[in-house]
Amino acid sequence: MYCVRKITEDLYWVGGSDRRLALFENIHPIPRGVSYNSYLLMDEKTVLFDTVDWSICRQFIENIKSVLKGKTLDYLVINHMEPDHAACIEEIILRYPDVKIICTKKASMLMHQFEFNVEGEVIEVKEGDNMSFGKHNLTFVAAPMVHWPEAMVTFDTTNGVLFSADAFGSFGSLDGQLFNDEVNFDRDWIDEARRYYTNIVGKYGPHVQNLLKKAGTLDIKIICPLHGPVWHSDLGYLLDKYDKWSRYEPEEKGVMIVYGTMYGNTEAAANDLATRLVEKGMKNVVMYDVSKTHVSYLISETFKYSNVVLASVTYNLKIYPPMLNYINDMKALNLQKRTFTLIENGSWAPQSGKLMRELLGEMKEMTILDNEISLNSSMKEDDVDLMDDIAESIIGSMK
Ligand code: FEO
Repeated sequence: MYCVRKITEDLYWVGGSDRRLALFENIHPIPRGVSYNSYLLMDEKTVLFDTVDWSICRQFIENIKSVLKGKTLDYLVINHMEPDHAACIEEIILRYPDVKIICTKKASMLMHQFEFNVEGEVIEVKEGDNMSFGKHNLTFVAAPMVHWPEAMVTFDTTNGVLFSADAFGSFGSLDGQLFNDEVNFDRDWIDEARRYYTNIVGKYGPHVQNLLKKAGTLDIKIICPLHGPVWHSDLGYLLDKYDKWSRYEPEEKGVMIVYGTMYGNTEAAANDLATRLVEKGMKNVVMYDVSKTHVSYLISETFKYSNVVLASVTYNLKIYPPMLNYINDMKALNLQKRTFTLIENGSWAPQSGKLMRELLGEMKEMTILDNEISLNSSMKEDDVDLMDDIAESIIGSMK
Protein backbone atom coordinates (compact mmCIF):
# COMPACT_ATOMS: atom_id res chain seq x y z
CA MET A 1 0.00 0.00 0.00
CA TYR A 2 1.36 3.42 -0.92
CA CYS A 3 1.87 6.13 1.71
CA VAL A 4 2.50 9.65 0.38
CA ARG A 5 2.05 13.24 1.53
CA LYS A 6 1.36 16.36 -0.50
CA ILE A 7 3.82 19.21 0.20
CA THR A 8 2.64 21.78 -2.36
CA GLU A 9 0.03 21.55 -5.12
CA ASP A 10 2.42 19.56 -7.31
CA LEU A 11 5.14 18.27 -4.99
CA TYR A 12 4.79 15.00 -3.07
CA TRP A 13 6.79 13.24 -0.37
CA VAL A 14 7.27 9.66 -1.56
CA GLY A 15 9.78 8.40 1.05
CA GLY A 16 9.35 6.07 3.98
CA SER A 17 10.66 5.07 7.40
CA ASP A 18 12.77 2.16 8.59
CA ARG A 19 11.96 1.14 12.16
CA ARG A 20 13.86 -2.16 12.02
CA LEU A 21 17.41 -0.94 11.46
CA ALA A 22 19.40 -1.03 14.72
CA LEU A 23 22.46 0.95 13.66
CA PHE A 24 22.56 3.81 11.13
CA GLU A 25 25.71 3.44 9.00
CA ASN A 26 26.12 0.27 11.09
CA ILE A 27 27.49 2.42 13.93
CA HIS A 28 24.91 4.84 15.40
CA PRO A 29 21.96 3.40 17.36
CA ILE A 30 18.57 4.59 16.08
CA PRO A 31 16.00 3.37 18.63
CA ARG A 32 13.39 5.68 17.04
CA GLY A 33 14.18 4.56 13.49
CA VAL A 34 14.99 6.81 10.56
CA SER A 35 13.17 8.17 7.53
CA TYR A 36 14.54 8.26 4.01
CA ASN A 37 12.86 11.14 2.21
CA SER A 38 12.32 11.38 -1.51
CA TYR A 39 10.19 13.92 -3.37
CA LEU A 40 8.32 13.82 -6.65
CA LEU A 41 7.49 16.96 -8.64
CA MET A 42 4.57 16.66 -11.10
CA ASP A 43 5.34 19.43 -13.60
CA GLU A 44 5.10 19.21 -17.41
CA LYS A 45 8.05 16.92 -16.85
CA THR A 46 8.11 14.64 -13.80
CA VAL A 47 11.12 14.96 -11.51
CA LEU A 48 12.12 12.69 -8.62
CA PHE A 49 14.54 14.06 -6.01
CA ASP A 50 16.84 11.32 -4.68
CA THR A 51 15.87 7.72 -4.01
CA VAL A 52 15.84 5.80 -0.70
CA ASP A 53 17.64 3.06 1.19
CA TRP A 54 17.22 -0.44 -0.18
CA SER A 55 15.29 -1.48 2.96
CA ILE A 56 12.19 0.52 1.95
CA CYS A 57 12.46 0.20 -1.82
CA ARG A 58 9.15 -1.63 -2.24
CA GLN A 59 7.23 1.08 -0.38
CA PHE A 60 9.07 3.73 -2.40
CA ILE A 61 8.14 2.20 -5.76
CA GLU A 62 4.48 1.91 -4.72
CA ASN A 63 4.54 5.57 -3.63
CA ILE A 64 5.97 6.76 -6.94
CA LYS A 65 3.46 4.73 -8.95
CA SER A 66 0.56 6.14 -6.95
CA VAL A 67 1.61 9.74 -7.69
CA LEU A 68 2.60 9.24 -11.33
CA LYS A 69 -0.76 7.60 -12.08
CA GLY A 70 0.51 6.03 -15.28
CA LYS A 71 2.77 8.90 -16.37
CA THR A 72 6.42 8.16 -16.92
CA LEU A 73 9.30 9.50 -14.85
CA ASP A 74 11.39 11.95 -16.85
CA TYR A 75 14.18 13.02 -14.46
CA LEU A 76 15.88 11.86 -11.28
CA VAL A 77 17.92 14.48 -9.40
CA ILE A 78 20.61 12.92 -7.21
CA ASN A 79 21.63 15.44 -4.58
CA HIS A 80 23.61 12.89 -2.56
CA MET A 81 25.08 9.56 -3.63
CA GLU A 82 25.38 7.83 -0.25
CA PRO A 83 23.55 4.50 -0.50
CA ASP A 84 20.95 5.40 2.14
CA HIS A 85 19.56 7.66 -0.61
CA ALA A 86 21.01 6.29 -3.82
CA ALA A 87 20.53 2.54 -3.39
CA CYS A 88 17.43 2.42 -5.58
CA ILE A 89 18.77 4.27 -8.64
CA GLU A 90 19.04 1.10 -10.70
CA GLU A 91 15.58 0.02 -9.62
CA ILE A 92 14.23 3.34 -10.93
CA ILE A 93 16.07 2.93 -14.23
CA LEU A 94 14.69 -0.60 -14.61
CA ARG A 95 11.13 0.64 -14.16
CA TYR A 96 11.50 3.96 -16.02
CA PRO A 97 14.17 3.25 -18.67
CA ASP A 98 13.93 6.70 -20.29
CA VAL A 99 14.69 8.57 -17.05
CA LYS A 100 17.61 11.00 -17.12
CA ILE A 101 19.75 11.37 -13.99
CA ILE A 102 20.83 14.90 -13.00
CA CYS A 103 23.83 15.06 -10.66
CA THR A 104 27.30 16.48 -10.13
CA LYS A 105 30.37 15.12 -11.90
CA LYS A 106 31.60 13.59 -8.64
CA ALA A 107 28.24 11.89 -8.05
CA SER A 108 28.48 10.41 -11.53
CA MET A 109 31.94 9.11 -10.70
CA LEU A 110 30.64 7.57 -7.47
CA MET A 111 27.80 5.85 -9.35
CA HIS A 112 30.44 4.07 -11.39
CA GLN A 113 32.44 3.24 -8.27
CA PHE A 114 29.35 1.67 -6.72
CA GLU A 115 28.90 -0.17 -10.04
CA PHE A 116 25.49 1.32 -10.86
CA ASN A 117 24.61 0.78 -14.48
CA VAL A 118 23.80 4.38 -15.52
CA GLU A 119 25.53 4.44 -18.91
CA GLY A 120 24.11 7.20 -21.13
CA GLU A 121 21.54 8.30 -18.52
CA VAL A 122 23.46 11.07 -16.75
CA ILE A 123 23.25 14.87 -17.17
CA GLU A 124 26.08 16.46 -15.17
CA VAL A 125 25.38 19.82 -13.55
CA LYS A 126 27.49 22.26 -11.58
CA GLU A 127 27.06 25.22 -9.23
CA GLY A 128 24.69 27.80 -10.68
CA ASP A 129 23.29 25.66 -13.51
CA ASN A 130 19.54 26.01 -14.11
CA MET A 131 16.96 23.71 -15.65
CA SER A 132 13.26 24.20 -16.35
CA PHE A 133 10.67 21.41 -16.24
CA GLY A 134 7.57 23.44 -17.18
CA LYS A 135 6.37 25.79 -14.46
CA HIS A 136 9.29 25.03 -12.19
CA ASN A 137 12.86 26.23 -12.57
CA LEU A 138 15.57 24.52 -10.59
CA THR A 139 19.00 25.86 -9.75
CA PHE A 140 21.78 23.61 -8.51
CA VAL A 141 24.03 24.62 -5.62
CA ALA A 142 27.22 22.75 -4.74
CA ALA A 143 27.38 21.53 -1.13
CA PRO A 144 30.67 19.63 -0.93
CA MET A 145 31.23 17.66 2.31
CA VAL A 146 27.64 18.14 3.47
CA HIS A 147 28.15 15.32 3.88
CA TRP A 148 30.14 13.71 1.03
CA PRO A 149 32.23 15.55 -1.59
CA GLU A 150 29.73 15.04 -4.42
CA ALA A 151 26.76 16.55 -2.56
CA MET A 152 24.64 19.38 -3.93
CA VAL A 153 21.36 20.95 -2.95
CA THR A 154 18.64 21.95 -5.42
CA PHE A 155 16.55 25.10 -5.15
CA ASP A 156 13.19 25.49 -6.88
CA THR A 157 13.11 29.21 -7.68
CA THR A 158 9.42 28.99 -8.64
CA ASN A 159 8.10 28.13 -5.17
CA GLY A 160 11.11 28.49 -2.83
CA VAL A 161 11.55 24.80 -2.05
CA LEU A 162 15.08 23.78 -1.07
CA PHE A 163 15.96 20.10 -1.50
CA SER A 164 18.71 20.16 1.09
CA ALA A 165 20.21 16.65 0.92
CA ASP A 166 21.58 15.57 4.34
CA ALA A 167 21.52 19.13 5.68
CA PHE A 168 18.68 19.90 8.14
CA GLY A 169 17.92 16.19 8.61
CA SER A 170 17.29 14.15 11.73
CA PHE A 171 17.21 10.59 13.00
CA GLY A 172 13.70 9.33 13.81
CA SER A 173 10.93 7.71 11.83
CA LEU A 174 8.04 9.81 10.52
CA ASP A 175 4.96 8.49 12.22
CA GLY A 176 2.38 10.04 9.93
CA GLN A 177 3.63 13.52 10.80
CA LEU A 178 5.72 14.97 7.97
CA PHE A 179 5.92 18.70 8.72
CA ASN A 180 7.85 20.40 11.51
CA ASP A 181 4.66 21.94 12.90
CA GLU A 182 2.94 18.57 13.11
CA VAL A 183 5.41 17.53 15.83
CA ASN A 184 6.74 19.20 18.97
CA PHE A 185 10.21 19.55 17.51
CA ASP A 186 11.85 21.35 20.40
CA ARG A 187 10.54 18.76 22.87
CA ASP A 188 10.62 15.51 20.88
CA TRP A 189 13.04 15.92 17.98
CA ILE A 190 15.83 18.34 18.71
CA ASP A 191 18.02 15.81 20.55
CA GLU A 192 17.86 13.36 17.65
CA ALA A 193 18.40 16.16 15.12
CA ARG A 194 21.48 17.26 17.04
CA ARG A 195 22.77 13.67 17.36
CA TYR A 196 22.28 13.21 13.62
CA TYR A 197 24.02 16.47 12.68
CA THR A 198 26.92 16.21 15.11
CA ASN A 199 27.82 12.60 14.34
CA ILE A 200 27.16 12.60 10.59
CA VAL A 201 28.10 16.11 9.45
CA GLY A 202 29.73 17.56 12.60
CA LYS A 203 33.28 17.29 11.26
CA TYR A 204 32.48 19.62 8.38
CA GLY A 205 31.42 22.81 10.19
CA PRO A 206 33.19 25.20 7.77
CA HIS A 207 31.49 23.51 4.80
CA VAL A 208 28.11 23.85 6.50
CA GLN A 209 28.88 27.52 7.12
CA ASN A 210 29.55 27.91 3.37
CA LEU A 211 26.21 26.32 2.58
CA LEU A 212 24.42 28.53 5.12
CA LYS A 213 25.95 31.60 3.43
CA LYS A 214 24.65 30.46 0.05
CA ALA A 215 21.26 29.63 1.58
CA GLY A 216 21.13 33.18 2.95
CA THR A 217 20.96 34.49 -0.62
CA LEU A 218 17.91 32.34 -1.49
CA ASP A 219 14.28 33.06 -0.68
CA ILE A 220 13.65 29.69 0.99
CA LYS A 221 10.06 28.88 1.92
CA ILE A 222 10.25 25.12 2.47
CA ILE A 223 13.19 22.86 3.35
CA CYS A 224 12.95 19.25 2.16
CA PRO A 225 15.78 17.25 3.78
CA LEU A 226 16.64 13.62 3.11
CA HIS A 227 15.85 12.55 6.71
CA GLY A 228 13.28 13.76 9.24
CA PRO A 229 10.55 16.41 9.07
CA VAL A 230 9.97 18.83 6.19
CA TRP A 231 10.24 22.46 7.35
CA HIS A 232 7.59 24.90 6.14
CA SER A 233 7.50 27.27 9.11
CA ASP A 234 9.88 28.66 11.76
CA LEU A 235 12.89 28.11 9.49
CA GLY A 236 14.89 30.52 11.66
CA TYR A 237 14.82 28.03 14.56
CA LEU A 238 16.56 25.35 12.51
CA LEU A 239 18.95 27.72 10.75
CA ASP A 240 20.03 29.12 14.13
CA LYS A 241 20.77 25.61 15.45
CA TYR A 242 22.80 24.79 12.33
CA ASP A 243 24.70 28.05 12.61
CA LYS A 244 25.67 27.30 16.24
CA TRP A 245 26.55 23.66 15.62
CA SER A 246 28.65 24.42 12.55
CA ARG A 247 30.56 27.17 14.38
CA TYR A 248 31.05 24.74 17.30
CA GLU A 249 29.40 27.20 19.66
CA PRO A 250 27.62 25.63 22.66
CA GLU A 251 23.84 25.97 22.80
CA GLU A 252 23.72 26.25 26.58
CA LYS A 253 25.79 27.22 29.56
CA GLY A 254 25.88 23.97 31.48
CA VAL A 255 28.11 21.19 32.76
CA MET A 256 28.29 17.73 31.25
CA ILE A 257 30.09 15.28 33.54
CA VAL A 258 31.31 12.14 31.78
CA TYR A 259 32.81 9.54 34.08
CA GLY A 260 34.61 6.26 33.47
CA THR A 261 34.33 4.12 36.58
CA MET A 262 35.15 0.46 37.31
CA TYR A 263 33.83 -0.04 40.85
CA GLY A 264 31.91 3.17 41.52
CA ASN A 265 34.63 5.28 43.17
CA THR A 266 35.15 7.64 40.22
CA GLU A 267 31.38 7.85 39.87
CA ALA A 268 31.17 8.84 43.56
CA ALA A 269 33.64 11.68 42.94
CA ALA A 270 31.60 12.78 39.90
CA ASN A 271 28.45 12.75 42.07
CA ASP A 272 30.20 14.89 44.64
CA LEU A 273 31.20 17.47 42.03
CA ALA A 274 27.71 17.53 40.48
CA THR A 275 26.17 18.15 43.89
CA ARG A 276 28.59 20.97 44.67
CA LEU A 277 27.85 22.62 41.31
CA VAL A 278 24.12 22.51 41.91
CA GLU A 279 24.48 23.77 45.50
CA LYS A 280 26.51 26.69 44.17
CA GLY A 281 23.74 27.60 41.73
CA MET A 282 24.69 25.82 38.49
CA LYS A 283 21.62 23.64 38.02
CA ASN A 284 22.17 22.77 34.36
CA VAL A 285 24.22 19.64 35.07
CA VAL A 286 24.03 16.27 33.31
CA MET A 287 26.00 13.09 34.06
CA TYR A 288 26.88 10.19 31.77
CA ASP A 289 28.57 6.86 32.43
CA VAL A 290 30.97 6.58 29.50
CA SER A 291 30.71 2.76 29.56
CA LYS A 292 26.94 2.73 29.32
CA THR A 293 26.26 5.58 26.91
CA HIS A 294 26.81 5.17 23.19
CA VAL A 295 29.42 7.64 22.04
CA SER A 296 27.01 9.20 19.51
CA TYR A 297 24.88 10.48 22.44
CA LEU A 298 28.00 11.76 24.24
CA ILE A 299 29.10 13.65 21.14
CA SER A 300 25.68 15.21 20.71
CA GLU A 301 25.58 16.39 24.31
CA THR A 302 29.14 17.71 24.08
CA PHE A 303 28.04 19.93 21.18
CA LYS A 304 25.23 21.21 23.42
CA TYR A 305 27.00 22.22 26.64
CA SER A 306 29.69 24.81 27.34
CA ASN A 307 31.62 22.86 30.01
CA VAL A 308 32.70 19.24 30.15
CA VAL A 309 34.16 17.34 33.09
CA LEU A 310 36.07 14.19 32.22
CA ALA A 311 36.52 11.85 35.20
CA SER A 312 38.51 8.76 34.28
CA VAL A 313 40.19 5.86 35.98
CA THR A 314 43.63 4.83 34.76
CA TYR A 315 43.57 1.52 32.92
CA ASN A 316 46.73 -0.33 31.82
CA LEU A 317 48.51 2.98 32.57
CA LYS A 318 46.33 4.69 29.94
CA ILE A 319 43.01 6.49 29.73
CA TYR A 320 40.05 4.16 30.39
CA PRO A 321 39.31 2.73 26.87
CA PRO A 322 35.68 3.95 26.54
CA MET A 323 36.79 7.43 27.64
CA LEU A 324 39.64 7.36 25.13
CA ASN A 325 37.19 6.36 22.40
CA TYR A 326 34.94 9.31 23.31
CA ILE A 327 37.79 11.84 23.30
CA ASN A 328 39.13 10.46 20.01
CA ASP A 329 35.65 10.78 18.47
CA MET A 330 35.46 14.39 19.63
CA LYS A 331 38.78 15.01 17.91
CA ALA A 332 37.70 13.19 14.73
CA LEU A 333 34.57 15.35 14.58
CA ASN A 334 36.63 18.54 14.92
CA LEU A 335 34.84 19.64 18.11
CA GLN A 336 36.16 22.95 19.42
CA LYS A 337 35.59 25.75 21.91
CA ARG A 338 34.72 23.79 25.07
CA THR A 339 36.00 24.24 28.60
CA PHE A 340 37.20 21.06 30.30
CA THR A 341 37.89 19.99 33.85
CA LEU A 342 39.79 16.79 34.56
CA ILE A 343 39.47 14.25 37.35
CA GLU A 344 41.82 11.30 37.32
CA ASN A 345 41.80 8.20 39.46
CA GLY A 346 44.38 5.45 39.87
CA SER A 347 45.31 3.01 42.62
CA TRP A 348 49.06 2.94 42.07
CA ALA A 349 50.09 5.08 39.09
CA PRO A 350 47.35 7.56 38.07
CA GLN A 351 48.01 8.70 34.50
CA SER A 352 44.65 9.45 32.94
CA GLY A 353 44.62 13.19 33.80
CA LYS A 354 47.96 13.89 32.15
CA LEU A 355 47.04 11.83 29.10
CA MET A 356 43.61 13.46 28.71
CA ARG A 357 45.23 16.90 28.99
CA GLU A 358 47.68 16.00 26.21
CA LEU A 359 44.94 14.69 23.95
CA LEU A 360 42.66 17.69 24.47
CA GLY A 361 45.66 19.94 23.84
CA GLU A 362 45.80 18.61 20.28
CA MET A 363 42.29 19.95 19.59
CA LYS A 364 41.30 23.46 18.51
CA GLU A 365 40.36 26.19 20.98
CA MET A 366 39.85 23.88 23.96
CA THR A 367 40.33 25.39 27.40
CA ILE A 368 41.46 23.09 30.20
CA LEU A 369 40.99 24.58 33.64
CA ASP A 370 44.01 24.45 35.97
CA ASN A 371 41.99 23.15 38.91
CA GLU A 372 42.00 19.37 38.69
CA ILE A 373 42.21 16.47 41.07
CA SER A 374 44.11 13.19 41.24
CA LEU A 375 42.41 10.54 43.34
CA ASN A 376 44.02 7.45 44.81
CA SER A 377 41.36 4.75 44.45
CA SER A 378 38.59 6.91 45.93
CA MET A 379 37.67 10.46 46.96
CA LYS A 380 38.27 11.10 50.68
CA GLU A 381 37.56 13.79 53.23
CA ASP A 382 40.98 15.30 52.46
CA ASP A 383 39.87 15.87 48.84
CA VAL A 384 36.78 17.89 49.71
CA ASP A 385 38.40 21.32 49.63
CA LEU A 386 40.03 20.62 46.29
CA MET A 387 36.73 19.41 44.82
CA ASP A 388 35.04 22.53 46.10
CA ASP A 389 37.69 24.65 44.37
CA ILE A 390 37.05 22.71 41.15
CA ALA A 391 33.32 23.48 41.35
CA GLU A 392 34.13 27.17 41.92
CA SER A 393 36.53 27.25 38.97
CA ILE A 394 33.92 25.73 36.63
CA ILE A 395 31.29 28.28 37.64
CA GLY A 396 33.88 31.04 37.40
CA SER A 397 34.74 29.98 33.84
CA MET A 398 31.13 30.47 32.76
CA LYS A 399 30.93 34.15 33.66
FE1 FEO B 1 21.77 10.32 4.66
FE2 FEO B 1 25.07 11.15 3.88
O1 FEO B 1 23.47 10.17 3.80
